[in-house]
Amino acid sequence: MSARIIAITNQKGGEGKTTTALNLAFALAKDKKATLLIDMDPQANTTGIFTNPDKLEKSLYNVFSGQVSLADILLPTSEPLLKVAPSKITLAEVESYSLNVDAPYILRDALSPVKNDFKFIIIDCPPSLSIFTINALVAATHVVVPAQAEKFSIDGMSGLQTTINSIKRRINPDLEILGALVTQLKPKTVLTKTILPVVSQFFPVFKATISAGVAVGESHLASKSIFDYAPDSKQAAEYRDFMKELCHELKA
Ligand SMILES: Nc1ncnc2c1ncn2[C@@H]1O[C@H](COP(=O)(O)OP(=O)(O)OP(=O)(O)O)[C@@H](O)[C@H]1O
Ligand SMILES: [Mg+2]
Repeated sequence: MSARIIAITNQKGGEGKTTTALNLAFALAKDKKATLLIDMDPQANTTGIFTNPDKLEKSLYNVFSGQVSLADILLPTSEPLLKVAPSKITLAEVESYSLNVDAPYILRDALSPVKNDFKFIIIDCPPSLSIFTINALVAATHVVVPAQAEKFSIDGMSGLQTTINSIKRRINPDLEILGALVTQLKPKTVLTKTILPVVSQFFPVFKATISAGVAVGESHLASKSIFDYAPDSKQAAEYRDFMKELCHELKA
């Protein structure tokens, strides 16, 4: 079975993409599944959990500039079955090459020699429908859309749905939308009455949800996954449930 390549995407900022990509990748690796986490965001928030992005000699910038292969930039992590493809702010410069006809295919091509080394490849996307998000959606087999339990922007969701569908139609017909993951759910939010009907107009919705809690922000500050920072927290259990639901859905 070839790798499941999952783009974690939402063009809105702060919806929980990085938190979800990171903790899903850790959950999979801890469940003995060889996993690659790709930081497709020039903000490099994911990379910052593992290393100082400014000090990196090689990153996705060099892959996107055609200087090195993806295998050359992969970093080991504290988790034996998890590797990271790091990013840094210079990646943003690559946007200017995006008029090149090959531009949407860089990640897909770069992944092809390494993808069979992994069972899962998780891609953290930037908060924009930029060339990086397009690269992720072209390379991916599946999409997960994290969305905050509040301030849903229906316009944003329909824009994202349109982008995903046009990539499916034109470039990547097998791309499958797994669904939206409700994140940062507050205790008093009435999920079933208020949020689900809105989100499910656009995407299927995972049964698992992630509640809001301080442990998440603290885990980022400690540069750790939620499982290593607060193994007994509600969010650790919820992210584990999400991983299991996703694996069940994918029969993986
Ligand atoms: N379940 C949660 N509970 C509390 N805070 C959370 C939770 N999930 C994420 N956050 C916080 O919300 C903020 C945004 O989360 P995150 O960085 O994962 O979103 P993002 O979609 O990757 O953002 P960006 O669009 O900037 O890349 C962060 O400060 C993070 O610590
Ligand atoms: Mg992010």
